[in-house]
Amino acid sequence: MYHDFNYEATLASSLKAQWELDDVLLDGQPLDFSRNMMPESLARTAELDMLNPFEQRTLNQISAHQYLSIFGIVEEFILPFLIDHARPHLLGDDWRVRAILNFASEEAKHIHLFKRFHTAFVRGFPVECRVIGPSEAIGAEVLAHDPLAVGLVILMIEWMTQQHYLGSIHDDGELDPLFKSLMRHHWMEEAQHAKLDTLIVDALATGRSEEQIDRAMDEFFAIGGFLDEGLKTQAGFNLDALERAIGRQVENRDAVLNQQHQAGRWTYIGSGMVHERFQDTLQSMSRSAADRIAEAAPVFA
Ligand SMILES: [Fe+2]
Ligand SMILES: [Fe+2]
Repeated sequence: MYHDFNYEATLASSLKAQWELDDVLLDGQPLDFSRNMMPESLARTAELDMLNPFEQRTLNQISAHQYLSIFGIVEEFILPFLIDHARPHLLGDDWRVRAILNFASEEAKHIHLFKRFHTAFVRGFPVECRVIGPSEAIGAEVLAHDPLAVGLVILMIEWMTQQHYLGSIHDDGELDPLFKSLMRHHWMEEAQHAKLDTLIVDALATGRSEEQIDRAMDEFFAIGGFLDEGLKTQAGFNLDALERAIGRQVENRDAVLNQQHQAGRWTYIGSGMVHERFQDTLQSMSRSAADRIAEAAPVFA
């Protein structure tokens, strides 16, 4: 076995790591708009020298708005996936049922937390930032795929939040402490979710032939391509918001658009693809699945 995760131990560590919304952000608490909110390793706004420092920070904050929105969207399809996965086994292993329902409940709490941050953002930011969606349509498109493909996407997303947390640590002192706290608290619970996702993916892959796994990987890439298109559209919305906020057009708009799309690719796809634990799961499932992801990863770097 390539890991020692199990439902009983993961439930126990989940219950120990749990926090409340108010531990992270109080209802009505303001964010600090004099600082960056996203780690530079994710937002990649400091390298845009056609923008002055104030404009770079404004785009960094728009990138934080994107983060709240995109995580809101993905958590909204993780929740029904978990419920669907738990339902046929409600009378089975008690640890498993409780661990997965607790996982679902934490994900519902994350949706709530991201909304609370989003409300605080909208209250403090001068212009409206548009978001792709509606989230129900995005979720329906993702969930229409093979559950193994969806499970792998979710596993990748949960592991990537570790990379996001580490990025926020490296930006120490620069970032709005509330956003740092968001990254830390989210990862604390996602670390447990990723273990459960690993068990879920193992179960969904068991008994599948190499060819069946390969077809699920095709669907994984179809979901990835769909999300990537959304990220490209979102990068355009972000630049629209930046231009409204700074009252001028951005020079070399196409180059900035591509650069910001690439930052989104790394944040929401690539940083999970290269996670060691995600690769371990792929390797244990199928060598060729792992090779396919390794081949695609540089596109999302
Ligand atoms: Fe979450
Ligand atoms: Fe999660």
